[in-house]
Amino acid sequence: MRILVTGGAGFIGSNFVHNVVRERPEVRVTVLDALTYAGSRSSLSTVNNSISFVEGDIVDADLVNGLVSEADAVVHFAAESHNDNSLADPSPFLQTNIIGTYTLLQAVREHDVRYHHVSTDEVYGDLALNDPSKFTEFTPYNPSSPYSATKAASDMLVRAWVRSYGVRATLSNCSNNYGPYQHIEKFIPRQITNILTGARPKLYGAGKNVRDWIHVEDHNAAVWRILESGEIGRTYLIGADGELDNLFVVRMILELMDKDPDDFDHVTDRAGHDLRYAIDSSMLRNELGWQPRYDDFRAGLQATIDWYRDNPTWWENDKSAVESRYQTQGA
Ligand code: NAD
Ligand code: DAU
Repeated sequence: MRILVTGGAGFIGSNFVHNVVRERPEVRVTVLDALTYAGSRSSLSTVNNSISFVEGDIVDADLVNGLVSEADAVVHFAAESHNDNSLADPSPFLQTNIIGTYTLLQAVREHDVRYHHVSTDEVYGDLALNDPSKFTEFTPYNPSSPYSATKAASDMLVRAWVRSYGVRATLSNCSNNYGPYQHIEKFIPRQITNILTGARPKLYGAGKNVRDWIHVEDHNAAVWRILESGEIGRTYLIGADGELDNLFVVRMILELMDKDPDDFDHVTDRAGHDLRYAIDSSMLRNELGWQPRYDDFRAGLQATIDWYRDNPTWWENDKSAVESRYQTQGA
């Protein structure tokens, strides 16, 4: 089997590539990645000899067409992925997330290649903090930010290409991932690297917003299961029952790093900040037999802290640029 992995130099994509190389040596992997600020060749350094790497843009139709024609399946991770950046400048989000997905869909349609579309629970908007319900595959789309609106648009394109052109696609919408190789602009690695560089963690608003955390390995195991056994045209929600509020997570990071749990700053809240995400993944569990394996968040967080402590060269060159960008946003 030959798979084309878009965004394979990013957080989730690089973990996916590591996993495929480790667990399925018979699979030939080609990574297509534009190496934006969020992508790094060093995230693939340990698997360099086992994969092909192509630096390029998913909006480039000729390049995409050629690579798709040589693949049996495409797993599409590439995206502009950060909500705060989308609020500051939505334009690359429209290009990559919408036009990039359109470009891939046209290519898989032409070459009749199996396609899996990696998306987010944010397409459903948010839930109230005191609402006992969770997102399901039937929750209406209601995205809040430019990022989530472009992901919602890309999901709709996939559904239309399945119905109108018979494209063999599946979709998955996952909650917040954590683990190694996550860009330090994101919540958990930002706080860990703040502490490692002698700065205080930064909490948006009161920290009551809830995210449904899942380890990146569990997300990727689910993606592989859907690629192998998912029903064409179907959407699967991926989540591991990991609801925690941001204040709790910041305090746990501080405690695991031997700091005072109150040693953080409250900063300006995100505009339109989604209150709560929560995933009901029973369809994926019951129909495809997937189960999360990383069920101890504290242990997973400790391992993630250790990874950033042990790999400063992976992130330290980006730190001052990330923090200056946040400073201009008052965050
Ligand atoms: P990331 O920002 O860490 O990585 C994105 C990768 O895509 C980078 O390597 C970047 O260089 C590449 N890329 C960006 N624009 C490109 C373009 N035009 N052409 C080719 N490559 C391009 O993102 P991530 O957190 O790994 O997210 C991967 C996917 O998973 C995204 O589709 C995201 O919406 C989805 N997702 C993320 C999470 C999460 O918690 N991080 C949760 C659910 C779904
Ligand atoms: O739910 C899935 C989504 O999870 C993915 O689609 C996105 O690609 C991914 O970035 C993530 O989106 P969030 O906006 O939830 O993640 P982020 O890491 O940016 O923020 C997590 C929470 O922490 C959110 O409530 C905002 C808050 N936050 C974030 C940062 C960067 C802080 O309190 N302080 C911070 O410094």
